[in-house]
Amino acid sequence: MLPDSPAWIAATRAALDTAELGPRAEHRGRVEEIGDGVALVSGLRDVRLDEVLQFAGGQVGFARVLDPDRIGCVLLDAATGVAAGDAVAGTGRVVSVPVGEALLGRVIDPLGRPLDGGEPIAAEAQLPIDRPAPAIIERDLVVEPVQTGVLVLDTLFALGRGQRELIVGDHSTGKTTLAVDAMIAQRDSDMICVYVAVGQKTSSVRRAIDALQNGGNFARCIVVVAGSADAPGLQWIAPYAGMTMAEYFRDRGQHALVVIDDLSKHAATHRELALLTRQSPGREAYPGDVFYAHARLLERAARLSEARGGGSLTALPIAETDAGNLSAYIPTNLISITDGQIVLNAGLFHQGQKPAVDVGLSVSRVGGKTQAPVLRKAAGPLRLDYAQFLELEVFTRFGAMPEGRVRDQLTRGARIREVLRQPQHAPYRLADEVALLLALQAGLLDPLPVRAVSAFRQALPGHLDTEVPQVVQALAETGALDEAARGALMAALKRLAEAPAP
Ligand SMILES: Nc1ncnc2c1ncn2[C@@H]1O[C@H](COP(=O)(O)OP(=O)(O)O)[C@@H](O)[C@H]1O
Ligand SMILES: [Mg+2]
Repeated sequence: MLPDSPAWIAATRAALDTAELGPRAEHRGRVEEIGDGVALVSGLRDVRLDEVLQFAGGQVGFARVLDPDRIGCVLLDAATGVAAGDAVAGTGRVVSVPVGEALLGRVIDPLGRPLDGGEPIAAEAQLPIDRPAPAIIERDLVVEPVQTGVLVLDTLFALGRGQRELIVGDHSTGKTTLAVDAMIAQRDSDMICVYVAVGQKTSSVRRAIDALQNGGNFARCIVVVAGSADAPGLQWIAPYAGMTMAEYFRDRGQHALVVIDDLSKHAATHRELALLTRQSPGREAYPGDVFYAHARLLERAARLSEARGGGSLTALPIAETDAGNLSAYIPTNLISITDGQIVLNAGLFHQGQKPAVDVGLSVSRVGGKTQAPVLRKAAGPLRLDYAQFLELEVFTRFGAMPEGRVRDQLTRGARIREVLRQPQHAPYRLADEVALLLALQAGLLDPLPVRAVSAFRQALPGHLDTEVPQVVQALAETGALDEAARGALMAALKRLAEAPAP
């Protein structure tokens, strides 16, 4: 006999004593109809809204519509194998996802199942996908910046931690790229990034993941993918799941950035599910609650008060427009829910002005106050100069080259436009941005032809690293520029501007 067998026997006896033996009642429903990712189920009277239901074949779904005699159940797995007449049982729990550090560096589906071929997630906890947003007294003002590394955002449309900013534009105008670049820039910050792909093409998701892996700090990113071929239910829960995963960090006093790519696809899925569960359609055939669904989702982005740990969750939802129509139902909804929008313009994109931010239609209502003071001071005149230039340009397009002040404004404006161009996946540091703005303001770029401005902008980061590394470092650490540092920086900029073009 083994020495520890008495303990083993005692434990087994104890387990037997508490085991429930005998008959157990369980509610079982039946599938009445199945199709397109939705099952209509009868015979389950005690099911709650959002409760997970399990089918005989092991597939799961959740109760979305509770009618007196029928439940509209949205499947989270492929519908293959579910047939009319199958048994269905309630599970007593709502849809939840794994959260925790173990998700970092992983590509998963909205239920936390690995898509990267890695180990299953060892989750710290399971949390519901639909959690209430923090109350007003739990929140605080947005005071810290999100450095996106994209010059046009950081100068003209600065974002703050806790803000919700919509990225909106036509198909293929650089929406995903802009959001991914903001995530790449977080390789130097303490922000956790969550990228949620809803109904996107596999190739687009692949590109985003590659960009994050090559340029960003992927070990601090989570990628949640519900592809266009996945069950509509899985696509529908994806943004909520991503929020829950990010909230874990927010609630521990950390900072997270969530990109939802995109809510137009999500709204289409919402409409599809509503029609399949026989809810009445409203404007553009969307059910009336689509506004509520998105508002409730984005309300979870917040800067928490010190009492709640001071964490933050910043959201960059994306929406796709048709022929630039911002007044369609979903874009107007989202514009009114968020704290501003970055509008990308297809015309600008095709002219090669990338990122194709429409400066006139874009706005950030919160982040300006959080801008680093040096950047803020330098960005103020830029906004005015650029806006005046865009207006003047329209009037002078067909006329002769004007003289005097107007010509100076046009010269400056063209150089601002060139400086605002930025290749993808190449975020600037704060020092690069400050240097570019100072060079513009001091008029260093005015004598250069526009093509040389482009060379200047490309050479700048390397030039700063070799000539004034101490300034770059000081700006990264303190976000401020003293007199001596400013002098050194200006001297370095002059040398670069006067250097003969290569
Ligand atoms: N700043 C940029 N510089 C160069 N190419 C860009 C830039 N932004 C986007 N692109 C390219 O434009 C194409 C469309 O961008 P994408 O972000 O996928 O658009 P969307 O998400 O709006 O459909 C991609 O091939 C991308 O590489
Ligand atoms: Mg895209």
